[in-house]
Amino acid sequence: MYRENWKSKLGFILAASGSAVGLGNLWKFPYESYSNGGSAFILLYLIAVAVTGLPIMMAEIFIGKSTNRNPIGAFKALHPSAWHFIGWLGILSGFIILSYYSVVGGWTLRYFFQTLTGAYLSMSDQGISGDFVSFLRNGQSQLFFHSFFMLGTIAIVIFGVRKGIELSGKIFMPILVILLLAMVFFSMQTPGFGKSMEFLFQPDFSKITAQSIIDAMGQSFFSLSLGMGAIITYGSYMQKNEPVIKDAITIVFFDTSIAILACLMIFPILFSYKIQPAESIGILFTTLPMIFLKMPAGIVIGPIFFLLVIFAAITSAVSLLEVVVAYFIDEKKWPRKKATLFLGIAIWMLGIPSALSNGGWNWLTKIQFIGNRNFFDTLDYIATNWMLPVGGIFIAIFTGWIVSVEIRDDSFARDHKMAYQFMIFLLKYITPGLVLLILLHGTGVI
Ligand code: TRP
Repeated sequence: MYRENWKSKLGFILAASGSAVGLGNLWKFPYESYSNGGSAFILLYLIAVAVTGLPIMMAEIFIGKSTNRNPIGAFKALHPSAWHFIGWLGILSGFIILSYYSVVGGWTLRYFFQTLTGAYLSMSDQGISGDFVSFLRNGQSQLFFHSFFMLGTIAIVIFGVRKGIELSGKIFMPILVILLLAMVFFSMQTPGFGKSMEFLFQPDFSKITAQSIIDAMGQSFFSLSLGMGAIITYGSYMQKNEPVIKDAITIVFFDTSIAILACLMIFPILFSYKIQPAESIGILFTTLPMIFLKMPAGIVIGPIFFLLVIFAAITSAVSLLEVVVAYFIDEKKWPRKKATLFLGIAIWMLGIPSALSNGGWNWLTKIQFIGNRNFFDTLDYIATNWMLPVGGIFIAIFTGWIVSVEIRDDSFARDHKMAYQFMIFLLKYITPGLVLLILLHGTGVI
């Protein structure tokens, strides 16, 4: 059966970057590093990216590229045994993550409309913060925007690999970078800039706890789209003779730079206008309208910027849906349209309780799951801090120890030999053990 592929090598890199760069960079990373004390957390994050993120990125591209199959089919093709359970774990993670990811994607839609209609023009900074809190309690409104976000995601995936995923990455990624740089430039002019630089770049290690180490590692998986087969799936649309290591480095570097830039954009505003840390998950959504009010042409730039946040989010959501869809297309022979609609709707339904968990369904709001988390936070916690790292451990072990060395060498042969040897060393001896250690440490086992 004909299987789609990327039109160009750049197409793959931009699509994979589109998957990686998303709400994880713009929304989650700033608030997680803010609530974990800034610089020390960022340092831990960078270590995680280098020691676990990069080798696993490479492993996933390799697994996809060498098989041209969805995650489950790929493991089956490389090793005839039970290893394809990693693919199943990945599909389950994709299902869970997209369900609540789309709810936050809906928030970005709402903020686009709010800034477009000038809703914040007459509001004080407190008013803008208060507006976020009341929106969070408004389950119906969140459900409404969640539905639209999911609809957009479905529409792109229906168009397929080249006309949907590749094209959206090619258009949205470059514009995002330019606007983000412009925003950082404006943030640098605010009075809190100096203080935010200290916060960002002078590590205070007393802030580090076992939990923040887990968070930093989980975040590195989440932000790089690793541990569940999204990159395997995107890699599977590559041509056989394309290099792996350079692409992996490019994507990882790009994603990490965007995360740091997002902090450079947001923290100066936080330090300039004293926003309550309690609203941490609202950091992105409250700081931006504030700076738009203060910068020249903010009325125009505001909605444009939120539009780009939507695009960043949607190119990531697309990759989550594509993992699940690719399985049904490859293995169950479903047509793309049927698979996308059916699975998209199922994921939308799973997202409903997340949309309503801060208000809307009062009984659900009252239930607390693991460690005082509501439904939404619990899904994020389980998927990001557990399912992705566990998936990552197995992907590393599989690539380091299980897969045939010939296939692996063949896939990398044209690539940088030294870097390849080093990556395999990490995958074999360092990455899986380190991730496991951090997980066990976080649970208090060791
Ligand atoms: N990386 C995306 C972000 O930072 C989210 C995402 C897309 C993702 N695909 C994924 C996370 C696969 C984990 C696994 O917003």
